[in-house]
Amino acid sequence: MKNKLRVANIGMKFGMCHVEGAMSYGAEIVAICDSNEENLRFAGERYGIPEEKRFTDYKDLLDRDDIDIVTVAIPDQQHVKVSCDFLRAGKNVLCEKPLALTREDIEEMIRVADESDAKFMVGQICRFTPAFEKTKEIIEAGTIGELYFIESEYAHDYMKLCDDWRADPLRHGVIGGGCHAVDLIRWLAGDPKEVFAYGTHRLLPMVDYDDATIAIMKFNKNLAGKVFVSTGCKRDYTMRTVIYGTKGTIICDNTSPTMTLFTVDEEGVTKEPQTIEVEVNNHNAAREFEVFADAILNDKPVITDAREGAKTVEVCLSIVNSAKTGEKICPDYSF
Ligand SMILES: NC(=O)c1ccc[n+]([C@@H]2O[C@H](COP(=O)([O-])OP(=O)(O)OC[C@H]3O[C@@H](n4cnc5c(N)ncnc54)[C@H](O)[C@@H]3O)[C@@H](O)[C@H]2O)c1
Repeated sequence: MKNKLRVANIGMKFGMCHVEGAMSYGAEIVAICDSNEENLRFAGERYGIPEEKRFTDYKDLLDRDDIDIVTVAIPDQQHVKVSCDFLRAGKNVLCEKPLALTREDIEEMIRVADESDAKFMVGQICRFTPAFEKTKEIIEAGTIGELYFIESEYAHDYMKLCDDWRADPLRHGVIGGGCHAVDLIRWLAGDPKEVFAYGTHRLLPMVDYDDATIAIMKFNKNLAGKVFVSTGCKRDYTMRTVIYGTKGTIICDNTSPTMTLFTVDEEGVTKEPQTIEVEVNNHNAAREFEVFADAILNDKPVITDAREGAKTVEVCLSIVNSAKTGEKICPDYSF
C-alpha cells in the first residue's frame, strides 16, 4: 500500500461527503462511480475528477490493484452485495449505515468480512458528531455518575426524501434513519436486552410502514432507555438526546452549537446548568475517514466493524418486529 491512500467512491449523492472526507485527509481519489451518468458528471465536475476516473459500473473497479479504500454510499438494499464484492476483491470498505436491512444480509456481511483480510467499517457517523463525542467523554469521566435512563430520537421529515428505495418496507424508517439513534444509545449505554415498541402511520402516505415509532428498552435492572423515530415530523432535523445519570444529566443533539450539562453539589443537589459550546458537524465524514485510515495503516481494530453494525440493525429489526406483533423482543446478538 502506498503512503498516500488511494480511494474509490461509489454513489455520488450523499457519497460526495465521502469524496470530501477522503480529500480533506489528503487521500488520492482514483475513481468515482455512479450508475446515474448525470450524478456522476456533476460530482466529477464539482471535485475536478477527470472523465477517465469516472465509472458507471462498480464491477469495473473490482480487479484494480491501485485502490486501497472503497466507500459505498448507494441505496441500503445494495450495501451488502457491493461491500462483499469489494471485500472479496481484497479492498478495504467503508460502507454507509445501515449495515443491512435483513437478518440474512447481516449474516452474509459478517461471514464475508470475517473471511476477508481487508478491513470493513460501517459509517455510523453519529459517533463522530462533536456533541456526541463530548457526551461520551463526559460519561466516561464519571461526571454524571451511573446512567439510569437514556433517550435519543431521530426526527427527520422524509416528505421530499421518499424515493423508491426509501419507500421499500424493508427500509423501514427505524432501520434506515432510526439506526442513528439506536447506534448512539448502544455506543453510550451498551446493548439493550429487551425492547417493546408502538408505531403510528399518519404523515407519509407514500409508504406502507409506520412513520413514527417509540421503543422502550431495558439494558439491565437499573438502566432503561427510549428511542423515538419520526420520519414524517413537521420540524427541522434533530437527534435530541438526553442522558440521565445518578450525579448529573446531559442534554444534547447533533445540530445545535451548545449542549447542557447538569451536575450536583456535595449534598447531591442539582447545580446551575453548564452550557458547553460544540462544533456543529453532524456529517463528520473527514473524521470518519481519518479513523478508518488509521485502522488500516496501523492495523488497528475497526470499532464499527460488521458485528457492531449488525448489532445496531438487530435492535432496529427487534423494534420493528415488536411494533408489528405487540410482543416484547429480546434482540439476538448471536452472530
Ligand atoms: N450517514 C448519514 O447521515 C446519511 C445521510 C444520507 C444518506 N445516507 C446513506 O447513504 C446511502 C446513499 O443515500 P443517498 O441519500 O445518497 O441516496 P440517493 O438515492 O440520493 O443516491 C444514491 C446514488 O447511488 C447511485 N447508485 C445506485 N445504485 C448504484 C450502484 N449499484 N452503483 C453505483 N451507483 C449507484 C444512484 O444513481 C444515486 O446517485 C444510503 O445508504 C443512505 O442510507 C447516510
